[in-house]
Amino acid sequence: MASNNAPENSLEQSLQVRDDEFIEASEVDADAPESAYGDENESYTTSLMSSVRNYRYENGRRYHAFRDEVYFLPNDEMESERLDLFHEILTRRCDGELHLAPIGTNPQRILDLGTGTGIWAVDIGDKFPSAEVLGNDLSPIQPSLVPPNVRFEVDDMENEWLYGSKFDFIHARYLAGAIKDWPRLMDQAFKFTKPGGWVEFQDFDMKFYSTQGEFSPGCPMDEWTKLVVKGLKKIGVEPEPGPKLEGWLKDAGFTNVHEKVLPIPVGVWPKNKQLKEIGALDYHQFLEGLEGISLHLFTNTAGWKPEEVQVFLVNVRKDLKNPRFQAQHNLHVVYAQKPLDAE
Ligand SMILES: C[S@@+](CC[C@H](N)C(=O)[O-])C[C@H]1O[C@@H](n2cnc3c(N)ncnc32)[C@H](O)[C@@H]1O
Repeated sequence: MASNNAPENSLEQSLQVRDDEFIEASEVDADAPESAYGDENESYTTSLMSSVRNYRYENGRRYHAFRDEVYFLPNDEMESERLDLFHEILTRRCDGELHLAPIGTNPQRILDLGTGTGIWAVDIGDKFPSAEVLGNDLSPIQPSLVPPNVRFEVDDMENEWLYGSKFDFIHARYLAGAIKDWPRLMDQAFKFTKPGGWVEFQDFDMKFYSTQGEFSPGCPMDEWTKLVVKGLKKIGVEPEPGPKLEGWLKDAGFTNVHEKVLPIPVGVWPKNKQLKEIGALDYHQFLEGLEGISLHLFTNTAGWKPEEVQVFLVNVRKDLKNPRFQAQHNLHVVYAQKPLDAE
């Protein structure tokens, strides 16, 4: 039975019949033309697809069109490049691993929440060719040429989940600033994880700090993070999920909860070669990302003019480029298991 309470704005849900769902005769549109049915179907799909691709533009950056509220990060080429660079940084920081949860060698169904460019989903699909991998996102910015076991859907993960079956592994990375109701998200993840299955969340707090460098509170780089946190709070999303993940997962009923806090350097200052390379990439990631992270937020929540944002960012960039600052920030990797005896 197709669900009647599917969220209106879930494109995949309105286009595809999932696993154990069937549409009954009473739900058939009697007026649908029988001739040229393929054409009709195609034009319907095309118009739905064009509505989610009818992106909005603001201050020269492109944003998703899937729902009225804007997710604060752009979804254009420049942001996609930054996300792919971040993927490299985060997997390197996890010693080349796509996940730290011990999911075994044969997961069957994997879900990637807020998949972005889909780069993690494609890589996990390559790693487990017999698994079915699904990535969702507000923006259809994923490639169309992907392994046959990987597919993407446009969806808002904060809507009610209507998946036909549960997952062996649910993964979500870098959702800072995206989610309003984390406890509800965790409850939905719990419900849709198979008993004995795993979830993994990798996320941030926003703060830069230094153990030995000259980065100090009150500098433009520090003020920038405070403004980002303030702006995100104003639009009602959680800016710093990283340190809270562990508690939310426990509250949702997960057990075997493990947290690893992995500092990420900004710049080439660490001696350790692996960290030096990660720091070089992270430095570029921030330089590329500063404008995208700040523009929508500062102009919409703090009333700044775009030019004022650009002027402020000049000083933030100076801090980023200062070799004596030796700043770092923390990635929280938290994975947990649904108990075997859970419903
Ligand atoms: C910072 S990006 C991270 C992308 C990806 N997880 C990664 O690590 O490369 C966050 C992504 O979450 C998506 N997103 C934000 N809110 C969402 C929501 N409510 N439902 C689905 N996707 C969402 C954004 O469109 C964006 O692509």
